[in-house]
Amino acid sequence: MSITILGIESSCDDTSAAIIQDGFLLSNVIANQDVHKKFGGVVPELASRAHQQNIIPVVDLAIKQAGVKKSDINAVAFTRGPGLLGSLLVGTSFSKSFALALNIPLVEVNHLQAHMLVHFIKEKNKENQIPEFPFLCLLVSGGHTQLVKINNYLDMEIVGQTIDDAAGEAFDKCAKVIGLPYPGGPVIDKNAQLGNINAFTFSKPRIKEYDYSFSGLKTSFLYFIRDRIKENSGFVKQNMNDLCASIQHTVVEILMDKLIAVSKKTGIKTIAIAGGVSANSGLRNAILESAKKYQWETFIPDFKYTTDNAAMIAITGYYKYLNKDFANQDIAPLARFKY
Ligand code: KG4
Ligand code: ZN
Repeated sequence: MSITILGIESSCDDTSAAIIQDGFLLSNVIANQDVHKKFGGVVPELASRAHQQNIIPVVDLAIKQAGVKKSDINAVAFTRGPGLLGSLLVGTSFSKSFALALNIPLVEVNHLQAHMLVHFIKEKNKENQIPEFPFLCLLVSGGHTQLVKINNYLDMEIVGQTIDDAAGEAFDKCAKVIGLPYPGGPVIDKNAQLGNINAFTFSKPRIKEYDYSFSGLKTSFLYFIRDRIKENSGFVKQNMNDLCASIQHTVVEILMDKLIAVSKKTGIKTIAIAGGVSANSGLRNAILESAKKYQWETFIPDFKYTTDNAAMIAITGYYKYLNKDFANQDIAPLARFKY
């Protein structure tokens, strides 16, 4: 008999629902929230209101697109955290009611674990290669930056992590300094492709062992731009692509240095990336270059699995379902949630 999981994601500003059957993706519907664009960042109160409006149509569409019936669904997996509490509450409350109404189990999912398990989502009519355990995953998103040793589907050890800003946050904050819209990461990436990575140099932080830090880089970028503008008010406009290429190159080098060091220390050569920033072309190229240099086997997610989506929640829910790891109806979301 097939196992069909409905996944629900609502941790930040994307409302998403997906159906996974026996590890194969049948549908993955995402409603983005444009309402935050004019504020230059996610406004929590507006995000939870938009989730409330979106959740029913998004789930309805995911079930229809998957071609399954509600009665085929074996469990509902939802993001318990980390994320914005108001946003998480919408997905959690919806999932609890749905599970109660259909009398099926509820499965809580950690959003960060889910980002890393995208490498196990299978698709029909596609070659599905999956990483062998243990492997290393560089998880880089708007809220988190972690280097993780993945021993098994749900057994993950954090080897290093940021002590301040996340990599995505560094991209977004630097983008804001040079007047780019939110989220700045994809815009920096696009401009960087036309720029010179060596046009400007920014110093890299010295942080112990395998931890990261990005707040110093953001501040030095801010001061650098401020000083140059004093000399030439058109500096940013005239050097936009080079600025984007140089800052992206620095962020990618910071990320890669520690990843390479952990791979050397542990001897693990199966390397994956995940999270919003794993869409970055500079990071993807750097991973492929290192793969050649160090004989790594690499796993780079499809673009559709890099940013927040419910397919990753459903696949994590699938493995938890197999372990009969179910949640109770009195479960509450957690803004901070360690795995
Ligand atoms: O994983 P995600 O969708 O949400 C969180 O859980 O945080 O990641 C969003 C982050 C944002 O900071 C965004 O700027 C960044 O991912 N991002 C990128 C790119 N695409 C998205 N950063 C650099 N280059 C990209 N191509
Ligand atoms: Zn995320």
